[in-house]
Amino acid sequence: MRDAAPNTIHLKDYTPFGYLVDEVRLTFDLAPDATRVTSRIAFRPNPETTDRRFFLHGEELRLLRAAIDGAEIAPEITDEGLTCSVPDAPFVWEAEVEIAPAANTALEGLYLSNGMYCTQCEAEGFRKITYYPDRPDVMSTFTVRINGTHPVLLSNGNPVDSGEGFAEWHDPWPKPAYLFALVAGDLVAHSDTFTTVSGREVDLNLWVRPGDEGKCAFGMEALKKSMRWDEEVYGREYDLDVFNIVAVDDFNMGAMENKGLNIFNSAAVLASPETSTDDNFERIEAIIAHEYFHNWTGNRITCRDWFQLCLKEGLTVFRDAQFTSDLRSAPVKRIRDVIDLRARQFPEDQGPLSHPVRPESFQEINNFYTATVYEKGAEVIGMLKRLVGDAAYAEALDLYFARHDGQACTIEDWLKVFEDVTGRDLSQFKRWYSQAGTPRLTVEEAWQDGTFTLTLSQETPATPGQPDKLPQVIPVAVGLLNPNGDEVRATEVLELTQARQSFSFDGLAARPVASVLRDFSAPVVLDHDLSPEQRAFLLAHDTDPFNRWEAGRALAGQCLLDMITEDAAPDTAYLDGLTAVLRDDGLDPAYRALMLGLPSQSELAATLHQRGLIPDPQAIWEATETLRQTTAQHMQDLLPRLRAESQIEAPFRPDADQAGKRALGSAALALLSRLDSGTQAAADYACADNMTLQLSALSCLLKAGKGEVELAAFYDQWRGDRLVIDKWFGLQVALAAPEQAAETARRLSAHAEFNWRNPNRFRAVFGALAMHHAGFHHASGAAYQLLADWLIRLDPVNPQTTARMCSAYQTWRRYDDDRQLLIGAQLDRILAQPNLSRDTTEMLTRIRGS
Ligand code: BES
Ligand code: ZN
Repeated sequence: MRDAAPNTIHLKDYTPFGYLVDEVRLTFDLAPDATRVTSRIAFRPNPETTDRRFFLHGEELRLLRAAIDGAEIAPEITDEGLTCSVPDAPFVWEAEVEIAPAANTALEGLYLSNGMYCTQCEAEGFRKITYYPDRPDVMSTFTVRINGTHPVLLSNGNPVDSGEGFAEWHDPWPKPAYLFALVAGDLVAHSDTFTTVSGREVDLNLWVRPGDEGKCAFGMEALKKSMRWDEEVYGREYDLDVFNIVAVDDFNMGAMENKGLNIFNSAAVLASPETSTDDNFERIEAIIAHEYFHNWTGNRITCRDWFQLCLKEGLTVFRDAQFTSDLRSAPVKRIRDVIDLRARQFPEDQGPLSHPVRPESFQEINNFYTATVYEKGAEVIGMLKRLVGDAAYAEALDLYFARHDGQACTIEDWLKVFEDVTGRDLSQFKRWYSQAGTPRLTVEEAWQDGTFTLTLSQETPATPGQPDKLPQVIPVAVGLLNPNGDEVRATEVLELTQARQSFSFDGLAARPVASVLRDFSAPVVLDHDLSPEQRAFLLAHDTDPFNRWEAGRALAGQCLLDMITEDAAPDTAYLDGLTAVLRDDGLDPAYRALMLGLPSQSELAATLHQRGLIPDPQAIWEATETLRQTTAQHMQDLLPRLRAESQIEAPFRPDADQAGKRALGSAALALLSRLDSGTQAAADYACADNMTLQLSALSCLLKAGKGEVELAAFYDQWRGDRLVIDKWFGLQVALAAPEQAAETARRLSAHAEFNWRNPNRFRAVFGALAMHHAGFHHASGAAYQLLADWLIRLDPVNPQTTARMCSAYQTWRRYDDDRQLLIGAQLDRILAQPNLSRDTTEMLTRIRGS
């Protein structure tokens, strides 16, 4: 067990380790209750420092033997590691430890999933495998021998030897221990090969449980596309003879980029048309790309310390987004990413968990794999690229790879390559990495004598530990439209560097309509006071697809807020504008499907809160329902035609084209079901031959208060498929009426198939509950309490997943006193549990605040 006393780590305290590691040799003798790990590590004094303290991390290890240069020693051991005296010269450390993978329910270190051994070492899990300087700036080559009876024995790098009961692997690329991986099990491979740009042949294997072979083809194609794309766009070639991917059922995250041996949550890699939705396919393609891209941005160039996490994650998210934009539709990807940013990162940045893209302190690093580090971290790179331009970005990346290959780097190193390539001073830009909070960008307009002036001002609210903010560099992409709808000024990037700054456009014949923050050029809250008529105009005419969508979104948002606060009727400017867009067959169906979306209920609550009002979740729910109903009536004639778009004659393909048609068809069916009480949905369910259509029809039925028979039939049909059964669990909670949500989750948590130790299953039920805004925040407080009960139960078993789910409570200060009292009581109840994990303690302490 680790120290219970919260121990805060600070970026400013970084010091290099006193020793370099030249080589690591590991031998695993696998056994569920007593796996023996033998290590042989070549250390030498680090010439970069005079600090000669020798400390090796180690947790939950039973040390059997330790020796230095062959002589046995007795190190001083604590809960966190060991120390001993060592020679002031190169030496060989040897140790034998025993660990118990079968007892490892936290899914960190070496553990068992359905009888298969696997590992998860990022961020600090390697210390649960053996004693080691478990920090990313210590890089070494690894040679691994696995002794075990399983047919498949895998580790990082290239295979060097194997035989009855053993396999040996060698990874020639120096790497930090967090990229170590081992897999042993009864697995089958879906195999292929890839020839790299320089003509090397790489063996590709996707390893799965017997029975899952039919769900591999899509992932394999995605891998090959990723490999080609990284060669073509970033000039990055793969660097080993094999690339293995393994699917595991018990996994805390989506996937992990271990060198040459990526490990995936089976939900993030296994797919077939019958069992996976279009959204599943798109996510799988993106996550395979993401983990593959880490080979260069993360593995070859890694992080000096965990404060630099965005160096690899922000950049790799940015790269995987570029990949998806290239393969699918760029506007659709951009809109989806912004929806996601607003749903996950904005609440984080605007609440008690707010932290900079590069945090300056933490207690538990696992709590900082956040939407801010990832998604805002990717936005920061997007801004940098927009500011320096595509050519300079490409040059800077080439320099980054050339200069830092094989190193453990910092954000300073990253920004320096851009400074060196462009000659720009990026010190103000760097505030994006150090200042937390979402800047608010206010736009004022003036028009005089043919000159149109935009005055932009920025303000970033105070966040925990950061009361005062300085102005940031905000790239604001702007275009101007003539009153007739033509674009008079193409997109231009204004660089806002001051708190308040004006930009003029002259020589205009008529007052234009400004399209501001095109393509969402910066992660800010935009305050641009446009009339509904101006927004409707942009919805009809904007040439920037993002802002065209945004205009509709803003109209819908304003309409909902008026309904909530003034009991207004749904705005016809919105309904007419939306209908016109939906009628336009020239527009991509996927784009039109996005147009039909509404701001989320949680987003509406945030907006009300920002305007000094107290959001009422039930009122928000009702307004949203009313607007959906009115929209359905308004588009009554159009809906059957739109629904027909999902009826595709061609064989199922999970590509953007077909997926877009199905998305529009599903969105239309959802509206139609409000008018025909589910008749069409029942017919569609009966003949659905892919999961996208099956699930969309079933959702419509449940939403209409029907579908009991279909729900039971769905369960019977898919009882053998754990990933589909996860959907069955989640769907029922997500579609429950607000007053039923907690009870539905409670009932499902008593189901025989509710294996709460499996993170996917736990999240299916309780993640869905937390995301059901009106259900989670129902005035009874039942959901607050139910979630707390389960977090208390899960914490001793799996602290990481528990801590992540605590964020459900992060917005609690937005709501009324009664709700705050109810939530506060649950936070206190969890915090009062004896032996609460460091992960959960840190999250709840920050959420609770002072
Ligand atoms: N390196 C992470 C996985 C990870 C996260 C390990 C947290 C340990 C702690 C991996 O590259 C990753 O970012 N995975 C994401 C998916 C990705 C597409 C953003 C995940 O697992 O959700
Ligand atoms: Zn990642």
